[in-house]
Amino acid sequence: MTSFAHLQHFNINITSNKMIGNSKFLALKFNRLLIISIAFILVIILLFFLQFNPSSATPILQTLPPTPEPMLAVEMGDDECLECHQTPDMILPLSNGEQLYLTVNPDQYAFSIHGREGYACVQCHTDITGFPHPEVDFETAREFSIQMAESCANCHPQENEIYLEGDHAKTLQEGEENSAVCSDCHGSHQITEFGNTRYQVAKMCQQCHSEIYDVYRDSVHGAALIEEYDSFVPTCVDCHSNHSNAGPEERPEFHLGSIRICADCHTDDDLMNIYDINTDVFDTYLADFHGTTVAIFERTSPDQPTNKAVCIDCHGAHDIRSPDDVQSSVIKQNLITTCQRCHPEATINFPDSWLHHYTPDIEQNRIVFLVNLFYKIFVPGMVGGALLFILTYVWRDIKDKRNIVSVGGENESP
Ligand code: HEC
Ligand code: HEC
Ligand code: HEC
Ligand code: HEC
Ligand code: HEC
Ligand code: HEC
Ligand code: HEC
Ligand code: HEC
Ligand code: HEC
Repeated sequence: MTSFAHLQHFNINITSNKMIGNSKFLALKFNRLLIISIAFILVIILLFFLQFNPSSATPILQTLPPTPEPMLAVEMGDDECLECHQTPDMILPLSNGEQLYLTVNPDQYAFSIHGREGYACVQCHTDITGFPHPEVDFETAREFSIQMAESCANCHPQENEIYLEGDHAKTLQEGEENSAVCSDCHGSHQITEFGNTRYQVAKMCQQCHSEIYDVYRDSVHGAALIEEYDSFVPTCVDCHSNHSNAGPEERPEFHLGSIRICADCHTDDDLMNIYDINTDVFDTYLADFHGTTVAIFERTSPDQPTNKAVCIDCHGAHDIRSPDDVQSSVIKQNLITTCQRCHPEATINFPDSWLHHYTPDIEQNRIVFLVNLFYKIFVPGMVGGALLFILTYVWRDIKDKRNIVSVGGENESP
């Protein structure tokens, strides 16, 4: 509507402004507006398509404060602490009736990475410098764990920063004191460096997420990790990350964003060749109606809950199985139930209305193939034609201007 009003306005100008008497000049001006509009639209279309390329974020590099060195001179050395604390069954009764077990195993600590690096007990237990200790300021064992875990930040500020922005820290702040802190996952006196511990990572999480762990253990990914120690399948933190442990509750955008997690591995030819798994799954998904709407939705309102289908809506997240597995949500006999979650009216032939992960070819999906081919020729043809039109116009415009200038020059000369 507004653009029409605009044109009318222009027409009135052209017809009423007889004073100038140069309608050719105005028509030229109008054409220029049209050209600029077309160019503008083309740029928008181009930008729109460019947007669809999954862009990788550049990691932010930051300088961190140097890690504190092991302290050589402390008021009370480790041996002195251990003199009391290796006493077997040393127990501190707490006001809520719990008992805090105070015995520390010296060999275990000596073997830990902090022990080996020569760190002193008091570098984590910064509030304790001697005996008697300051008065106990916690009421439950859990409160003590949460307090103590804060000491890790002194030397691991980077991990701490990510952790603090993560979902466990958020749930903790919201009052869920059973949410994970550093020492729940890593331990305290027995921390060692990580080797190939992807299997142990799943165990870390199992302590508190045992139901999910059990489901995961039976999935195609979990079974390969836990039974075959396959290190190419995702463990919990490949999908949820090490320290932010992102999940859908605190971050609605996680649900939509999960397609990128799957795509990371499932578009990797070298990796998927080992298992003879199709790597077109992401592209074919993006090309179908589900993927196309998700891609648009991801740009416009990623943090809104949505009914748009992402990979996990068909495959599951923790219970992903091979499409040949009788329990798979995408094996032919179960597929209709999967579709019906969102298409309740779907009948037995419904899945056939969809291309699955196949790239349309001339034999199997003749119509889709031909329509695609048409667009492949039609769209570039149209854009190319429009560009050519603009170029020839600009060229003519420059030529016309030259003519006007030279004509004007002739007029001025007496
Ligand atoms: C003389 C024996 C003795 C020595 C030495 C000692 N502790 Fe203790 N520690 C205790 C006793 C007893 C408790 C029980 C609580 C209390 O009485 O303060 C305790 C409690 C603790 C606790 C439990 C929580 C708290 O804040 O009270 C920690 C942690 C601790 N000691 C660490 C250390 C460290 C680190 C050292 C060395 C710098 C050390 N202790 C040296 C006897 C000792
Ligand atoms: C890397 C940091 C770190 C170092 C080094 C360290 N501790 Fe701890 N300590 C912790 C954490 C964290 C906890 C709380 C563990 C929990 O959540 O129960 C803890 C707990 C304790 C407790 C309470 C009982 C328990 O195990 O929960 C005692 C006693 C203690 N430490 C003594 C020592 C002594 C003695 C040393 C030196 C030999 C030492 N710590 C070295 C981090 C450390
Ligand atoms: C929910 C479990 C969990 C919590 C909570 C957690 N971590 Fe980790 N952390 C991990 C996992 C998993 C790894 C990576 C293990 C691997 O690479 O095999 C890791 C790795 C690390 C590493 C090795 C370097 C690195 O970044 O990969 C350090 C240091 C570390 N964590 C410190 C911390 C500190 C400090 C905290 C608390 C602020 C913390 N972690 C909280 C699970 C956790
Ligand atoms: C006084 C400094 C200091 C404190 C406090 C401290 N660490 Fe460390 N930590 C180190 C150093 C130094 C290393 C070995 C070098 C490295 O890998 O960063 C290390 C290594 C680690 C590793 C193994 C990293 C790897 O590369 O495999 C983990 C996990 C870890 N620390 C967790 C913790 C946790 C959890 C706490 C708190 C309970 C904690 N640290 C407290 C200094 C510290
Ligand atoms: C000490 C217990 C504990 C440990 C260990 C633990 N978690 Fe959690 N986690 C929680 C609690 C409590 C919540 C909040 C309630 C819930 O969603 O279950 C939570 C929530 C989550 C969420 C959901 C957040 C959301 O927005 O929905 C994810 C994802 C998660 N944890 C992943 C992990 C992973 C991965 C590990 C292992 C590396 C792990 N957790 C280890 C206790 C733990
Ligand atoms: C292949 C990727 C993948 C792996 C591996 C994975 N998760 Fe998840 N997880 C997801 C996705 C995606 C969601 C979100 C589901 C949704 O949005 O409905 C999720 C959701 C969660 C939640 C939120 C609560 C829920 O049930 O939806 C928790 C907690 C969680 N995962 C923990 C874990 C733990 C613990 C492990 C390891 C035993 C694990 N995840 C392994 C992808 C994964
Ligand atoms: C860390 C890499 C990685 C991530 C992330 C990942 N996968 Fe996988 N996936 C694999 C590997 C490797 C296999 C092969 C396992 C095997 O057959 O032993 C596999 C197997 C599968 C299979 C079974 C294929 C078949 O024909 O047997 C499906 C389906 C699948 N993944 C879907 C997903 C989905 C959906 C996601 C995202 C939620 C995802 N994967 C995330 C690596 C990954
Ligand atoms: C609308 C439901 C649906 C969605 C959405 C979906 N898939 Fe599938 N997927 C299937 C079905 C059905 C199969 C079984 C093979 C087939 O029919 O193409 C399958 C097969 C697979 C396979 C096995 C391929 C092989 O060669 O064995 C992988 C891997 C896979 N999908 C990953 C994904 C990923 C990654 C996404 C998201 C980018 C995704 N799927 C989205 C339904 C879906
Ligand atoms: C998580 C919900 C969800 C699941 C599961 C799902 N779809 Fe859809 N599907 C949608 C939505 C929403 C639309 C509308 C277009 C859009 O916004 O993506 C749609 C659109 C379609 C269309 C386009 C025609 C129409 O009805 O609008 C077909 C065909 C289709 N889906 C087939 C399937 C098949 C086959 C399955 C099972 C393999 C399936 N869908 C599973 C949500 C889902």
